[in-house]
Amino acid sequence: MTNISVSILDAGALLHLHQPGQPDLRFHAIWLRDNALDPATRDPGNGQRLITMADIPRDIRLSGAVINGENVTCVFAPEGKTVDFPVTWLTENAYDQTQPDVSGRLPDWAQAWDSSLMGSVPEANLDALQSDNKTRRDWLAQVRRYGFAKVTGMNTTSGALFDVVDLFGYVRETNYGRHFEVRTEVNPVNLAYTGLGLQAHTDNPYRDPVPTLQILSCLENSAAGGENMVVDGFAAVRRLLDEDPGGFALLAGYPARFAYSGADGIKLQSRRPVIELSPDGELIGLRFNSRSSAPVRDVPFEHMAAWYAALRRLSDIIDDPAMEVVFKLAPGEAFIVDNTRVLHARKGYSGEGTRWLQGCYADKDGLLSTLAALEAAS
Ligand code: FE2
Repeated sequence: MTNISVSILDAGALLHLHQPGQPDLRFHAIWLRDNALDPATRDPGNGQRLITMADIPRDIRLSGAVINGENVTCVFAPEGKTVDFPVTWLTENAYDQTQPDVSGRLPDWAQAWDSSLMGSVPEANLDALQSDNKTRRDWLAQVRRYGFAKVTGMNTTSGALFDVVDLFGYVRETNYGRHFEVRTEVNPVNLAYTGLGLQAHTDNPYRDPVPTLQILSCLENSAAGGENMVVDGFAAVRRLLDEDPGGFALLAGYPARFAYSGADGIKLQSRRPVIELSPDGELIGLRFNSRSSAPVRDVPFEHMAAWYAALRRLSDIIDDPAMEVVFKLAPGEAFIVDNTRVLHARKGYSGEGTRWLQGCYADKDGLLSTLAALEAAS
């Protein structure tokens, strides 16, 4: 490789990599040794690491580094061990750059949305998802990007929702069973009956971890109204961050409490913040569900009023029609939501008819793994 050069800095503590037209990159000797790609360090079959920290000398340093074709060949002292690192691998895994540290930032895989997404709700047909890897990959990528998507062309038999889970992973069984029924018979004798709408929420915040995906499928839907609605929790909390950074910091900085004990032998409880951030400020998720709230007692007395003001503001943002995407599921349709991010709700319904949905939970690790494998294969 022309004009690429390496040198050793700080008495062997650092490797310095220079590539024309690109920022120079530095790597620590301990980092390089820890991530060595040789078969004695990393199993060539399964990729698992074969050493622990105890196997790396405390005084590890670089005693040599040269460009060798596509690789940088490093010699580690005092082991006298030689390891090749592809320049492309070093570039992909570089960490010598300004790290983003903006609190409340979106993960790079996520795109925030509001009601303007209504005309282009991500969806795909079940047959195509089952038979065509590209369709499945693209649909899974939309679930990752937007946190929700629809499926059409499903059976209208009980249990058909598992066909959606089978596309990427496994059902997460809970005390509600492998799946749960969401069924309402609207009494034809009492046409004035109105099914209550529900505020947009995330499910099961009293679990730790929460179920990270929810699937709802429609088997019958002849009642008037009863549309489903979703709100991007990431967009909502970022709007709160814009309007009230101090309130955002309170909801992210102190644990809330959630609980459910609606049946004998069940006492679920969690202590987690409404807005969850990674240690470096990236959005991880939110828990928002007034029906499952328990007394909050981890917010300092002097901040409690402001914490509640922030929660009220977030609630108002979530209720703002400008944030919501509304759609009515027809029999044979389902939708999936990222339950760590996207809130879901049911609009009120009325009139004669039947509304029968089935729901189940699954987890994002399987979905993201399937997506990554499909992306790697394409
Ligand atoms: Fe729900």
